[in-house]
Amino acid sequence: MNIPKIITAAEAAAMINNGELLGVGGFGPAGAPKCIPPAIAARAREEHAAGRPFKVDVVTGASIGASCDGELAAADAIDRRLPFSVNAEIRKAYNSGRVRYTDLNLSDNATFLRQGITGPVDWGIIEACDVQEVRGKLRIYLTAGIGIAPTICHLARKGVFVEVNSWHSSKLIGMHDIYEIEAPWYRSPIRITQPVEIIGLPYIEVSPEHIRGIVSTHLPDEARAMTPATDVTQRIGQHMADFLVDNMRQGYISGRRLTLQSGVGSGANAVLGALGECREVPDFNIYTEVLQEEPLRLIGEGRVVSASTGALTISSEHLQELYSNINDYRGRLLIRPSEISNCPEIIARLGICSLNTAIEVDIYGHVNSTKIGGTKMMNGVGGSADFTCNAMLSTFTCGSTTKEGKISSIVPFCSHVDHTEHYVDAVVTEYGVADLRGKCAADKARALVEIAHPDYRPLLRDYLRLAERYGGHTHHVLNAAFAMHDTFRRKGDMRLTDWSEYIKE
Ligand code: COA
Repeated sequence: MNIPKIITAAEAAAMINNGELLGVGGFGPAGAPKCIPPAIAARAREEHAAGRPFKVDVVTGASIGASCDGELAAADAIDRRLPFSVNAEIRKAYNSGRVRYTDLNLSDNATFLRQGITGPVDWGIIEACDVQEVRGKLRIYLTAGIGIAPTICHLARKGVFVEVNSWHSSKLIGMHDIYEIEAPWYRSPIRITQPVEIIGLPYIEVSPEHIRGIVSTHLPDEARAMTPATDVTQRIGQHMADFLVDNMRQGYISGRRLTLQSGVGSGANAVLGALGECREVPDFNIYTEVLQEEPLRLIGEGRVVSASTGALTISSEHLQELYSNINDYRGRLLIRPSEISNCPEIIARLGICSLNTAIEVDIYGHVNSTKIGGTKMMNGVGGSADFTCNAMLSTFTCGSTTKEGKISSIVPFCSHVDHTEHYVDAVVTEYGVADLRGKCAADKARALVEIAHPDYRPLLRDYLRLAERYGGHTHHVLNAAFAMHDTFRRKGDMRLTDWSEYIKE
């Protein structure tokens, strides 16, 4: 028997050196290792107490659980981090400059690793529900999320640590479709023509010598609780449903093969739930990077016919429930590596309708998904650009205001742009849909002002009226374009914007 030796998390942490790059498996909190990262944080604290430097670089599939990002950031043990995260502790570290954060499209992540752009990976740390030896090789069966686990297993030059977590069920075996993309110049077509078509293997295969130790654990995933649906998200969901139904009637999208992607966060979760409730929307498929609570419920109810995802980011209770009923999901649900869940080629081929959440949208249709007030990192772009740039119909949703109405989500100019007007087809707030397709800049602006909160529509109309006088194709008064942001900074409420302070008529 060639199974590598069982070690403790502290023994694994002791092998890791200052300055090394760790590749960590999982996608979001799903399938992320949970006991070696806290042991690395403990090691960092000891090293710091002894006056020695100790920081590692961390690359993951997407965000990761609190026991990795949270613990390592709190121990000041991360120097460089990429490509995405949602943890509040590490967010503080990015925004105070303590951690160097690279915000990267998730579809590029594995390719960057293989090309060496991210740097050589020293160690891989992954979570598995089972490890089996077959004909001298090890088969690693992953858990609720994959991320970049296959890539780091092959690239990690010092070896891989596997947390075998008995909290996850080995019934998960067979639910993964693991396929690694070839180098771009020799890449053959990735033959996924419908969401649950299997093209890879249900496990990662490695040589036993490559595994430097197995750590046994029994720990639940660390998914955040979703904020429940609100009146605003319900209304957004209803508008989105009406919009999709209208697009099907017009023949712009297929009703028979309706395939949706849904973004991360409470807003996206609630909107998908509301879509599922709308009987005019036919049963649909999902091809996405994360399945949150509501889409999982819809699969259970049969509203979602088939679903491909990078991860199951649902509560521990619901994950265990899914494991108990796993046979109901076989053949209808697949978990995939992030380079496949977010692959531009597949997104384009499946004619996906993407539903992502915006932080702010400007009157010409540019979208900010990542920076609060243009400067403070929220989470990162994640897969939103992968889907927005390649989907058949790319939509963004957001409540028209936030912070008790003091901030408008529709602004003259986005304080940061992740998605340009050229990729954003429609924006939906609780006040309706701005369909931007085929519209000139002035018409886009008029449509977007109509879905702003009523408190802000006169303000935005005044801006447009003043901006028109300056001429050009896309009307702006550049020194006033951020006046609403500036007013919020100075007076705590965008509604107090006074254009005369910025524009001399
Ligand atoms: N100005 C200031 N703050 C804003 C804001 C704005 N224009 N828009 C939102 N916020 C704040 C909210 O007030 C809230 O603050 P709080 O945490 O203090 O309550 C916070 O940002 C999160 O907003 P919320 O509406 O609760 O967000 P959400 O959970 O629906 O997530 C995103 C929205 C945009 C942050 C999230 O979808 C994301 O990270 N997207 C980028 C990645 C992505 O789209 N991935 C999916 C691809 S498949």
